[in-house]
Amino acid sequence: MAKAPMRVAVTGAAGQIGYSLLFRIANGDMLGKDQPVILQLLEINDEKAQKALKGVMMEIDDCAFPLLAGMTAHSDAMTAFKDADVALLVGARPRGPGMERKDLLEANAQIFTVQGKALDAVASRNVKVLVVGNPANTNAHIAMKSAPSLPAKNFTAMLRLDHNRALSQIAAKTGKPVSSIEKLCVWGNHSPTMYPDYRFATADGQPVKAMINDDIWNKDVFLPTVGKRGAAIIDARGLSSAASAANAAIDHVRDWVLGTNGKWTTMGIPSDGSYGIPKDIIFGFPVTTENGEYKIIQGLEIDAFSQERINLTLKELTEEREGIKHLLP
Ligand code: NAD
Ligand code: LMR
Repeated sequence: MAKAPMRVAVTGAAGQIGYSLLFRIANGDMLGKDQPVILQLLEINDEKAQKALKGVMMEIDDCAFPLLAGMTAHSDAMTAFKDADVALLVGARPRGPGMERKDLLEANAQIFTVQGKALDAVASRNVKVLVVGNPANTNAHIAMKSAPSLPAKNFTAMLRLDHNRALSQIAAKTGKPVSSIEKLCVWGNHSPTMYPDYRFATADGQPVKAMINDDIWNKDVFLPTVGKRGAAIIDARGLSSAASAANAAIDHVRDWVLGTNGKWTTMGIPSDGSYGIPKDIIFGFPVTTENGEYKIIQGLEIDAFSQERINLTLKELTEEREGIKHLLP
C-alpha cells in the first residue's frame, strides 16, 4: 500500500538554497523513493519574493515528480507550518562579503521567535525541525525556546555541511574514498570556531590519525580550511554556499528519519549535558540515528587540545545565547 504523504515545510523557498533543495525533496532524495511529499513553501510577504516563489513552483510542476502529492505557497508561518512533519528553516538574511555572523544575530532572532511560535501552534507534535539559516545553532535555540509544547529534541541545527567538508578534506589527504571513512565528527557551532575532529576516524577500518600522522597539518591546514570554508565560498562566488548546503540539509534529515545503520554523523542538537556542554545549548555532536531518534556517541576521550577547541566554540555559543536572551519568550 502507498505511504501517506509527509508534509515538508520549507522557509526561504525562493532563495538560492531553496532552488537546490526543493527539487531533491520532491524527487525523494530526503525521505525515500517510496515516500510521497507535500511541499508547504514560505516566503516573505513581498510581491517580488512571492512572484519568484510562484516561478520556482512552476518549475517544480514542470518536473512532474511522481512523489509530489501537493504544493502550496505561503506568506504566513501559521499556514505554512500547519501539520508539518518536517520543517526546514532556511529563510534568513545571508551573510555578504566582509560581514560577521554576529551582525545577523538580532535580525534573525526576530524571525525564529515568530517561526518557533508558529511551529508550536500548528505543526505535527512530532515535527522534525532543521535550522539552516544563520546563525544556525542560535536560531535553532530561539525556535526551540519559542515552542515550549514541542519536544526540545525535535529542534536541530545544520552542522552536516561542516561534517561533509571535513570528510572531503580527509578523503583528499588520505587518498581514500569518502565512502570508506567513518567516525568523523564536528563539535560545536556552525561557525569558524567549530572543531572538526578526526581522532576517532577510520578509513577502511584503519585509523585516519595514524595515516595522516601530522598534528601541524591538523592545526594549521585542516581546522582552518574546514572552519573558514563558508567564507572562502562567499569570497569566490560572491554568494554563500547553496547547492552544498541544500545537499547537507538533505543528508541531515534523511539520516535522522531513515537512520545511519550504526554509522556516525554530526548533528547540531540540544545538549543533554554530555561532554560538559550545558543543557539546551545547540551543539554539534557525533551521533547515530535509529527509528527517527538520534543518540550522542558517549565515552569519547577528550584530550587537552580538543577540550580547548570545544571550550572555544562553546564560549561563542554561550555569548550568542546571552546576546539574544532578552528576545526569548
Ligand atoms: P537567500 O538570500 O538566497 O534566500 C533566503 C530567502 O529567505 C530569501 O528568498 C528571503 O526572501 C527568504 N526569507 C527571509 N526571511 C524570511 C522569513 N522570515 N520567512 C520566510 N522566508 C524568508 O539565502 P540562501 O543562500 O538561500 O541562504 C539562506 C540561509 O542559509 C542564510 O542564512 C545562510 O547564511 C544560511 N546558510 C547556512 C548554512 C549552514 O551550513 N548552516 C550553509 C549555507 C547557508
Ligand atoms: C557556509 O558555511 O557556507 C555558510 O554558513 C556561510 C554563510 O555565512 O552563509
